[in-house]
Amino acid sequence: MKRNILITGGAGFIGSHVVRLMVNKYPEYRIVNLDKLTYAGNLANLKDIEEQSNYCFVRADICDYEAMQEVFRKYDIDGVIHLAAESHVDRSIKDPFTFAKTNVLGTLSLLQAAKEYWNGNYDGKRFYHISTDEVYGALELTKPKGDPNGNECGGGPYGDLFFTEQTKYNPHSPYSASKASSDHFVRAFHDTYGLPTIVTNCSNNYGPYQFPEKLIPLFINNIRHGKPLPVYGKGENVRDWLYVVDHARAIDLIFHEGRIAETYNIGGFNEWKNIDLIRVIIRTVDRLLGNAPGTSEKLITYVTDRAGHDLRYAIDSTKLKNELGWEPSLQFEEGIEKTVRWYLDNQEWLDNVTSGEYEKYYEKMYGSR
Ligand code: NAD
Ligand code: DAU
Repeated sequence: MKRNILITGGAGFIGSHVVRLMVNKYPEYRIVNLDKLTYAGNLANLKDIEEQSNYCFVRADICDYEAMQEVFRKYDIDGVIHLAAESHVDRSIKDPFTFAKTNVLGTLSLLQAAKEYWNGNYDGKRFYHISTDEVYGALELTKPKGDPNGNECGGGPYGDLFFTEQTKYNPHSPYSASKASSDHFVRAFHDTYGLPTIVTNCSNNYGPYQFPEKLIPLFINNIRHGKPLPVYGKGENVRDWLYVVDHARAIDLIFHEGRIAETYNIGGFNEWKNIDLIRVIIRTVDRLLGNAPGTSEKLITYVTDRAGHDLRYAIDSTKLKNELGWEPSLQFEEGIEKTVRWYLDNQEWLDNVTSGEYEKYYEKMYGSR
């Protein structure tokens, strides 16, 4: 079946994996990647698919309502996968306005454009909003690390509770508050106007093409350059890590088979204390660079904690497994090895991103901005 799918934020980290998967898997679809190309958007992430005939790129700001109306009309959009957002917690602490604008008003503008264009004819239509586990707040650390399969006996390795789809929203950072607000708007458009919406809340992603401000690529890059590794607080915070391609697979499955008006949590039952994860990264990078074991341990530098730093995230994705049969395909050890290798093998990508050179890619491909 022919479909015209609008993917927002497709030049970013997760978005680029979703665009790649959809373009390659569905030659009969037209995939419209809409992105403002903020500092986080990088078209070089999509070099390998940008010439394919079922792909096109539109540079636009989701906050620009008229531009969104035009895109729906021009491409006759019948499905939306909405990833465009400001995504970095530390930036949201410094500049909350930009987060409210893009994440809340931008999402609202997209919802309104979809509602107006579809005009009550919702047959086969779908508005899928990608969100985060951070909207649920933070969990307690109630256990020292025990059985890594602890979740099977009623809890994770670091605590008894998980975030489920029933967990009440309790966001703490400006980033998570803006994402929570956008989630509410999406559900409100279903409840008020019948818009066929789906929301998913996913845990921390890692893998190729992540902007090196986030923990894993930042630390790989710093180790490569012998620079300090800034560990917030005591490094005791726990995050639940999922390989980005497994998230993209879940998005594809839910977009096609998820139930309208439902929420699905996505996560890999893979909790790590930051400091333990950092040691894994150090060991892996040192080994792949041929350094003696422990060489880069000395780069660990404890710094002032992030304001309002959530202690623990842990996602229960049982609903997704039971309803749609999704499970992560990659073990963490394999995922982290692949990820470190990718950043070491793609130093040019990292150097272009850290130097700002990547911002010229658009001009090279599409002319002046
Ligand atoms: P990212 O920062 O790497 O990419 C965001 C993309 O959105 C960029 O390409 C950027 O140019 C674009 N964008 C930003 N503002 C825009 C605007 N006003 N108009 C159009 N495009 C705009 O983010 P990511 O890590 O890939 O996250 C993608 C989505 O997934 C976000 O909604 C985020 O909240 C959510 N999410 C991320 C994670 C994670 O671990 N990274 C986990 C769960 C959910
Ligand atoms: O949980 C999903 C969320 O994961 C997404 O919604 C966000 O978009 C994404 O950025 C990510 O948020 P985090 O704040 O968890 O990711 P970050 O990589 O910034 O930090 C991971 C952990 O590492 C967190 O506990 C803070 C800590 N940290 C981070 C950085 C950048 C450090 O100790 N030092 C650092 O320099």
